[in-house]
Amino acid sequence: MNKIVTKQPANEGTGGLPNPLPAEVRDFIKEVTAGLDQPLVNRFTPAIGQIYRQSRESGIIKAESQCFDEQFKDLIRDWVAYTTQKVTGGVPDVVALNKGSFTARAEGYTDNQGPRALKNQEAINNFVAQWVCDAAGKGGKVLDAGTADGKRALIIAGKVAQSGGNYELYAVDLSPEMVLLARQNGIPHVEEGNFLNLPFGDTRFNAMTCLDGTIGHLRSEDRIQALQHWFDRIDDDGVLALDVFNQQGLFTVLTKKHNAIRTALGAHFPELREEGLTEGDFIYSVAGSPPCYIHHFKKDDIVSELRATGFEVSQLRTIAIGLGRDKTDVTGQEEDYNQASIVVLARKTKTQPRITIQHEQSRGPTSQDSKRMAV
Ligand SMILES: C[S@@+](CC[C@H](N)C(=O)[O-])C[C@H]1O[C@@H](n2cnc3c(N)ncnc32)[C@H](O)[C@@H]1O
Repeated sequence: MNKIVTKQPANEGTGGLPNPLPAEVRDFIKEVTAGLDQPLVNRFTPAIGQIYRQSRESGIIKAESQCFDEQFKDLIRDWVAYTTQKVTGGVPDVVALNKGSFTARAEGYTDNQGPRALKNQEAINNFVAQWVCDAAGKGGKVLDAGTADGKRALIIAGKVAQSGGNYELYAVDLSPEMVLLARQNGIPHVEEGNFLNLPFGDTRFNAMTCLDGTIGHLRSEDRIQALQHWFDRIDDDGVLALDVFNQQGLFTVLTKKHNAIRTALGAHFPELREEGLTEGDFIYSVAGSPPCYIHHFKKDDIVSELRATGFEVSQLRTIAIGLGRDKTDVTGQEEDYNQASIVVLARKTKTQPRITIQHEQSRGPTSQDSKRMAV
């Protein structure tokens, strides 16, 4: 009797995607896992395969391309480097990661920033200077959290001085090299430390600034703890100025890529899930420095974190990176797809109760994931 052979369509059961993976993707996996121990290679290989397949399905990778684009490859390299450090005990948490990353970037920190980023900052500095001047410009105290080399805090103080105001400037940074530079650059009071636990004894401030996405260097739980702590160290009727990076606008695709990587790696590495990383979390390196961690925000999220910790949001503005253009958006309802930074000007209120807020946590692998993991 003749055996009946049923022909399977080539890509059946893989959502129309090539299975096994295209050679270019397999070569990329080999490249990023080169030099790692075999047990780690065995975990990264299906995870990166999963990133590829799911990104093709969701359209982050264009149907016609066989491999990840160069930006996507760089992001995967950074996440693989971080995950490897994490599982081999190299970095205990994202704060340690950031300390190493910014210490490596300290020399020439401001000079190495591109003209677009500096122009964007210039637009933000104008709002911040006015906000800080109103609250502290008559000889008050202002603390800049995560000051780096301090140059930006000094520019803002200079703007306030030009309009006839003055205040005493304090600053804190995690990186000892950054603190040294900030001191050399002329910040009068600057200490090394984690802004989760501010230095300067019981000093209370009329205003605090935390700029260039810096509060996003803390994970969500720690951000709430930091904001509560800052609330306690800000004078009654004092203010806070933040700028954070937007998940949407300019960063929409980038955010999707990071989310895809985090989710797939999280399915294979419980160590990452335990870190409590969430949607909008980025691990990325700048100009070959060790990677750092940062969270990009949805407007509603930063507003609810501030409200939960007792702050009243007075103004929210989105800024187009490179254009220095602002869109006043007090209600948070206006949208502009080029908006890269969200500037939030908040005020301490005496009466607002603190509330608990929750964030999405990355999920563990499901049996469906295990089926898709085979490369
Ligand atoms: C992106 S830079 C921003 C520098 C500056 N605020 C500006 O606007 O140009 C972030 C800085 O925050 C510091 N930093 C990150 N996490 C911190 C933490 N938990 N406590 C204190 N400083 C921190 C880093 O060392 C780095 O110098």
